[in-house]
Amino acid sequence: MIRFSENYSLKAHNTFGVDAKAKFYFEFTDPADLQIFLNENQSWKEERLIVLGEGSNILFLNDFDGLVIHPNVPGIKTVDEDRNNYWVEVGAGEVWDEFVDFAVTYNLGGIENLSLIPGTVGAAPVQNIGAYGQEVCAVVEKVKGYDLEKQQLSEYTIDECRFAYRDSIFKSYLKNKFIITSVVFRLEKFPEFNLKYGQLEEKVKAKGDPTLQSIREAVIEIRSSKLPDVKELGSAGSFFKNPVVDESLAESLKLNYETVPVYAAQGGKAKLAAGWLIEQAGWKGVREGVVGVHKDQALVIVNYGGATGKEVWDFSEKIKQSVFEKFGVELEREVNCI
Ligand code: EPU
Repeated sequence: MIRFSENYSLKAHNTFGVDAKAKFYFEFTDPADLQIFLNENQSWKEERLIVLGEGSNILFLNDFDGLVIHPNVPGIKTVDEDRNNYWVEVGAGEVWDEFVDFAVTYNLGGIENLSLIPGTVGAAPVQNIGAYGQEVCAVVEKVKGYDLEKQQLSEYTIDECRFAYRDSIFKSYLKNKFIITSVVFRLEKFPEFNLKYGQLEEKVKAKGDPTLQSIREAVIEIRSSKLPDVKELGSAGSFFKNPVVDESLAESLKLNYETVPVYAAQGGKAKLAAGWLIEQAGWKGVREGVVGVHKDQALVIVNYGGATGKEVWDFSEKIKQSVFEKFGVELEREVNCI
């Protein structure tokens, strides 16, 4: 199936619910059709281009004057197996949480803590989605897609993906140069449960001996209690990244604020909780017009209805400034702003 439209509204294609329009929109289910579409008309090379999954991590500041590509490749299939693992190839268009549900149903481990994260499977490796002590990079084996420069289908192995905290080669060097069409995951037949995130362990143990199913249920309970449902309230999950700062800055914050959460990060650095910083700066639950900070999770900015991308951006700028003034910490947006 392919679909091509001009002057196409993206309102239903971004979880913030911003009514931006794309000059051109192309959706495909078969990677071969993408290749034909792009090769047949070389003028696409002159257009700006973005790839859009479910639009759960994107904020459109304006209409998009270019080509939006929506990979809608379906399918979950087992491609290999050994004593401990199944390798499963999943189309980029599958809904992430439906894939987690599939894995848990067949008792395959490695992604249960990533339950209820919005978005598509194709988007998962781009920002290396993570939650409750798991990151998707731990189970990605290969990422397949279309290379716009070489004009051919190709693939990246795990070592080539340059995964880091909410980051990968697809978000940096290959941004809008490589269109992910499917991902191969290595799932475990005899999973080791990862319950090191405190609140999760409590919740799972309350349900009895841990199983993949009970972990999934517990994660869904925690997420639903803290994060808004994008079907009811427009948002894009965490709006900012948890900032990684020098150890010395973290130490001086600890002296002034007893409760500041500080986690160890790579290279002797420290990771702070952006949600905590924003809450302490007085923003939790604050609403300005149709935009606001969520009442239960300060890391999430919400659209109460009809907000433009620019309004959300301006509001986030105020939060950034106020956190910098109070703590000397520069927040970085996690959401992709177009
Ligand atoms: N906190 C506050 N106030 C808030 C929110 C958080 O004080 O409003 C404090 C909490 O008390 C806790 C610390 O900040 O001490 C961390 O909070 P939490 O464990 O809820 O996680 P987070 O750092 O806010 C990150 C991810 C989430 C992920 C959770 C759980 C990022 C940017 N966010 O949030 O991911 O679900 O951990 O693992 O890394 C997303 O990326 O969209 C997302 C939701």
